[in-house]
Formats: sequence, structure tokens, C-alpha cells
Amino acid sequence: MNKFLLAGVMGWPVMHSRSPLMHNYWFKQHNLAGTYVPLAIEPTGLASALRALPALGFAGCNLTIPHKQAAMKIVDEVDALAKNIGAISCVIVRSDGSLAGTNNDCYGFIHNIRQELPSWRADSGPIVVVGAGGGSRAVCYGLTQEGAREIRLVNRSFDRAKKIGEEFGPPLTALPWEQRDDALEDAVMVVNTTSQGMVGQSPLDIRLDKLPKHAVAADIIYTPLETPFLAAARERGNPAVNGLGMLLHQGRPAWRAWFGIEPEVTAELRALMEKSIREG
Ligand SMILES: NC(=O)c1ccc[n+]([C@@H]2O[C@H](COP(=O)([O-])OP(=O)(O)OC[C@H]3O[C@@H](n4cnc5c(N)ncnc54)[C@H](OP(=O)(O)O)[C@@H]3O)[C@@H](O)[C@H]2O)c1
Repeated sequence: MNKFLLAGVMGWPVMHSRSPLMHNYWFKQHNLAGTYVPLAIEPTGLASALRALPALGFAGCNLTIPHKQAAMKIVDEVDALAKNIGAISCVIVRSDGSLAGTNNDCYGFIHNIRQELPSWRADSGPIVVVGAGGGSRAVCYGLTQEGAREIRLVNRSFDRAKKIGEEFGPPLTALPWEQRDDALEDAVMVVNTTSQGMVGQSPLDIRLDKLPKHAVAADIIYTPLETPFLAAARERGNPAVNGLGMLLHQGRPAWRAWFGIEPEVTAELRALMEKSIREG
């Protein structure tokens, strides 16, 4: 490989993104000449920006808020995984200049849990997923693929949870928001996929009293590294996993597709990202 390698993330806004720090760490670690840049693209400019990638020499890009759904109508091919999730998180420029869309969020969520808790199994009992937005769809799809037998999906707006339940079918059941505390009874895992608990947002409104002490509490939020929900779970003895690793692990299949390399989520990379998040 002797050319300069290029990739980036398109979002609006995007300058807060921690992705460049992570991808540029991997370029350095692999001793490669290349860079990963934040690309501030307004929604109206998404189609032209994506179409410009081949001419600019990009291997591809990641997509973040608000482009994940809109890009599905722009790229030339959307794979089955992204179609099932209903969003694209990664675009790959193919050798003929066409654009392929996939979704690596689901891989990121599952592989982070596996790295943090190697004995974890999706089929060991009921799993509660709170939230029914884009992140939730990736988490629910990943859990279903991993063999989850029962997923209790609760969301403030019941309609959105119901829609995912209808699309994904069993093992997923949509439950009303009012049942979120009771849904934790006999669960082996609870995942917060809402934006509640994120910097600037109020904490997730849930009581953990009924959650068994051995159940895993996971959050897909990584700013802050420990949300009030995760802190409460950890204080009562539940194993707690934050969302940073989901972000880190979703970068690995992106690199495989863009550069033919599978980079590692090292302790050094985690520490670098944690330091950057703590510094704000
Ligand atoms: N770690 C990662 O790699 C990763 C990947 C993707 C997302 N995330 C994070 O996950 C979070 C959600 O992202 P998203 O893309 O899924 O967002 P989204 O599609 O906008 O969904 C937001 C979810 O939060 C719920 N919500 C918002 N305000 C609420 C409130 N006051 N009370 C209860 N529920 C509320 C929404 O419920 P309604 O349906 O009722 O509005 C919805 O379920 C963000 O913090 C994002 O940064 C992390």
C-alpha cells in the first residue's frame, strides 16, 4: 500500500466528533500515511458530498447525525444489514467509484460487550432495551442476531417501539413506557439507548430496584463516560459497560472494508479517548 489513505466522518454538526482521534491513532499505530477528517456537511449537501468522495480519493466515510437515514437513498447499494437496521453508518467507495452503504453500530455494540464481559451470552435470559431510536435499532438487531430469546423494548413513544417490534418480530416485544421499572424483573441485561443521561440531558428516568444484581447494565452513551443510570447500576453491584467501546469497535469493520486491515481496540486507544472525553 503506497498511496495516501483518506477517510472521514460526515455530520452536522461534526466538530465535536471523537472519531478522528481514534482513526488517526490507528494510522499511526499501523505506520501508514493517511488521515481521517471531520466533514461538516449540511443535510442539503449530503448527496454532492458523498458523490465527491471517489474523486477526492476517499476510501469511504462514516455517517453521524443527521445523515444516517438520508444516505440510504443516495448510495448505489445498501447491504441487508443496513436495510434491516434502517440506517447507514459507513460508506465504502468501491473500485469503480460506486458507493456501498453498511451499518457497523450493531457490530460495535456486540463486540464491545464481548471484550468487556467475555462470558456474556445474548441467550441467557430476558434483555430490556430502553429507547427506540437509531441506536436502539442497531442494538436490538445485534441482540437478535446473537440469539437473544426475549427482548423487552420500552420507549417513551410507544409507537416507535411497536414499529420495531413488528419489523423484527419475536423475540422482541414492545412494552409501554409505564412498565419500564417492572420490565427489569428477572432480566439478565438492560441497555439504555435513549439520549437521556448524555451531557446536557436529564438522567434516564428508571428505577433499578427490580433489576437482579447479576444483570449487566449497558449504556450506548459515551459522553459522559458514566451516565447517572450506569453509576446507579454500578453502585448496587451490577456489571456496567459504557458506550465508548461501541464507538471504538464499529471502526474495525470500517477499516477492513476501506483499507483491508482490522485494527485493534487497545487499552492505549481506550485511554486516549477517555482522556479526550474527560477533558471535554
Ligand atoms: N456508542 C455509540 O457508538 C453510539 C452509536 C449510536 C448512538 N449513540 C448514542 O445513543 C444516543 C441515542 O442516539 P440515537 O441516534 O438512537 O437517537 P434518536 O434516534 O434521536 O433516539 C433517541 C431516543 O431517546 C429517547 N428520548 C429522548 N428524550 C427522552 C426523554 N426525555 N425521556 C425518555 N426518552 C427520551 C427517544 O424517545 P422517543 O422515541 O419517545 O422520542 C428515542 O428513543 C445518543 O446519546 C447517541 O450519542 C452512541
